[in-house]
Amino acid sequence: MINIEINKEPLELIKSDIELVLVIDKKFEHRFIKTPASLFDKCGFSANHEETLFLVEQNRVFVGCESLKANDIKSAIASATRVIIGTKYSSLKIATYHDMDTISSIGAIVEGIILGAYTFDKYKSKKSELFLSSVVISLEEYNSHEINEVEASNALVRAKILANATNMVRDIVNTPPDDFYPEIMANIAKELSDNSTLECEILEVEELKKENMNALLAVARASRHTPRVIHLTHKVANPKAKVVLVGKGLTYDSGGLSLKPSDYMVTMKSDKSGGSAVLGILKAVNELGLDIEVHGFVGAVENMIGGDAYKPDDVLIAKNGKTIEVRNTDAEGRIVLADVLSLAQQRVEDLDYIFDMATLTGACVVAVGHYTSGVMGFSDEVKDKVIKSANVSGELASKLDFNRHLKKTIKSEIADVCNISSTRYGGAITASMFLSEFIEDKNRDKWVHIDIAGPAFVEHTWAENPYGASGAGVRMMTTLIENLCNEK
Ligand code: BES
Ligand code: ZN
Ligand code: ZN
Repeated sequence: MINIEINKEPLELIKSDIELVLVIDKKFEHRFIKTPASLFDKCGFSANHEETLFLVEQNRVFVGCESLKANDIKSAIASATRVIIGTKYSSLKIATYHDMDTISSIGAIVEGIILGAYTFDKYKSKKSELFLSSVVISLEEYNSHEINEVEASNALVRAKILANATNMVRDIVNTPPDDFYPEIMANIAKELSDNSTLECEILEVEELKKENMNALLAVARASRHTPRVIHLTHKVANPKAKVVLVGKGLTYDSGGLSLKPSDYMVTMKSDKSGGSAVLGILKAVNELGLDIEVHGFVGAVENMIGGDAYKPDDVLIAKNGKTIEVRNTDAEGRIVLADVLSLAQQRVEDLDYIFDMATLTGACVVAVGHYTSGVMGFSDEVKDKVIKSANVSGELASKLDFNRHLKKTIKSEIADVCNISSTRYGGAITASMFLSEFIEDKNRDKWVHIDIAGPAFVEHTWAENPYGASGAGVRMMTTLIENLCNEK
């Protein structure tokens, strides 16, 4: 654990092993830099964004940062943090760099450090030792802005909550499937509620049968690990709104009988990212004590092969009575979500918003790339809320529009809807249109689907994210829920 504190003292008066200095927009001369520009030149340091230079004799780490924007500061600090945690220095100091407001400026520094310091070495016999134990942020500011101390310490608390919830989700998603199956996911949800005011209910096979969740049960059938549906709730006395979050929690997606080729199966432990994000958001919302009622539902299922597996050609009767023609067992996430969406809407009748988060399609990664989530639904207003929250929180999200031509491609000759499209293109949108079949009319404009297949798990370091799980969705959706508090 790294202890992060705020200090009113000027940077120079704070004692620490090393100092972290940001070179903003390649401006080598500023109030915190005492080093001649010629020395940087000699070292071959151009201060490109996230480029670092450690001048050991000066006890200073420099990092290039494109602008004073909070998201640039965050990724630059994360990059420098990765260098620093590779050393044996234990204390660090840094000044404040102010952009729009204190929350995002201080938040960027704190998130950069906590998210940048994340490592997943549970499965390494030789663990990397963390020497960095203390970080002090001086309120002395790059452009001599006055920083309000109370606002700064609120920002510190908020950023710690968001970053730690994100790191919890990273740990969950990175855990291999043999050690992480639906029962474990349910245990984590129970643990979260045991240690907080969150309420938790777990539905096992018998209850799922009673709820007529035959679609979800069909996907789960071939696995030795029985499925769970998690319902985690954050309740407050007079909620300003009721938000429902639904997450795809495929603890492994082998593809089922429509088996994935080996190269595509690797990384499918990350198919639980949507459900894991839901757990992380509930944790963060609860710790922040937000005045919103939030219900998190997770369909925790393993999609496997075997004599008992569901098959292409099967017709499933979903919880809401609609029939689904299965033509590909690898399009399983939408089948699981169909039932969990129905359950969520039945249980929370007077909801204001319903969001589902899922690593739903490879097509979404093709459409918008690895770093961006796809945002789909009927209401531009709600989709824009998601995009805006993503932008301010440092996540990337793009809208993908529905159209009536694509809608026709999920028609079935023998059932109400088919689980795959008849066209190979636009797969992120057709998957979302399939989900829309399970949204009640009254909730049409309250629903948004977020496909996080791209950013949830990336096999290299990018911005403040490490190799592997990123915790996509946690910061974006917690910010959205926070903003709802301020709206009313
Ligand atoms: N879990 C996958 C989607 C996925 C792909 C997530 C890559 C993350 C990275 C999903 O269940 C799936 O297999 N979708 C299929 C749908 C197809 C059969 C219509 C896909 O995207 O290929
Ligand atoms: Zn699949
Ligand atoms: Zn899947």
